[in-house]
Amino acid sequence: MLTIQFESIKKTFGSVTAINDLQLTINEGEVYALLGHNGAGKTTTLRLLLGLLEPDHGTITVFGKNPLGDGDTVRRMCGVLSEDVGLYESLTVDDNLRYYADIYGMSRVEANKRIDQLLDRFDLFDKKCLIVKGFSTGMKKKVALIRAMLHRPRILLLDEQTNGLDPVSTADLRTILSQLAREQGTTIIMTTHNLEEVQKMCDRISILRHGQNILTASISALKNSNQYVEQGQFSLEKLYMDIETIKTTEAIKITEAKGANK
Ligand SMILES: Nc1ncnc2c1ncn2[C@@H]1O[C@H](COP(=O)(O)OP(=O)(O)OP(=O)(O)O)[C@@H](O)[C@H]1O
Ligand SMILES: [Mg+2]
Repeated sequence: MLTIQFESIKKTFGSVTAINDLQLTINEGEVYALLGHNGAGKTTTLRLLLGLLEPDHGTITVFGKNPLGDGDTVRRMCGVLSEDVGLYESLTVDDNLRYYADIYGMSRVEANKRIDQLLDRFDLFDKKCLIVKGFSTGMKKKVALIRAMLHRPRILLLDEQTNGLDPVSTADLRTILSQLAREQGTTIIMTTHNLEEVQKMCDRISILRHGQNILTASISALKNSNQYVEQGQFSLEKLYMDIETIKTTEAIKITEAKGANK
């Protein structure tokens, strides 16, 4: 089975240790969430995966490729929604998307079809010829999401994808992402602070603390464990709050003892 693997990864920025002995294994087709407080190292992890940063120590493999040596291959496999959506504000929606379709090497016919299909799916078809500059935060995020999905990547990296989306758009996106994972086997890695969303759609989670993976678990194993229950139901928020109060070494032991990462 193809995997994304981080082995003993360390990354520092000057005196700041952003990633500290990070171990992570994500399987093809999984919907995976990286959780953790602000500054825990989630975005840095995604940038390392893409080969945009070089680790100080350790090895990363993405479906057998090294993101540094084989950066172009890895990045071509990935669709990325970054924290700052990074659109060309003075271009129209269509021009923004077409520009990336060209970079991805899509034919004009294929790009036209795919762009129209996705604009329709995200309820943005009537905005196709408008300049991005005047768009709301959520609308820009949707355009950036379409851009990430355009070339049908095998891996989708979503940094805070629902931040700024209204509840209906959030639910819509959940359906779209679940379909991608189920029907096309897309591997989806997301960072988010929306724990309810994670509980609804993710297969597994890792909680990062000071750049370390302190807990890896599958949502189904957690649900079956009958722990972290609130009003009779499993609550990821309760786990997140509880885990905050215990030491890193103890949290890592919980993962191992539960075998909850299976
Ligand atoms: N380019 C950089 N230069 C210096 N420090 C950095 C850089 N990128 C990240 N850091 C530091 O690394 C740590 C991890 O940052 P990162 O952006 O990965 O956190 P995060 O988990 O994504 O947080 P958030 O939830 O706020 O997005 C922080 O202490 C941050 O200040
Ligand atoms: Mg971040």
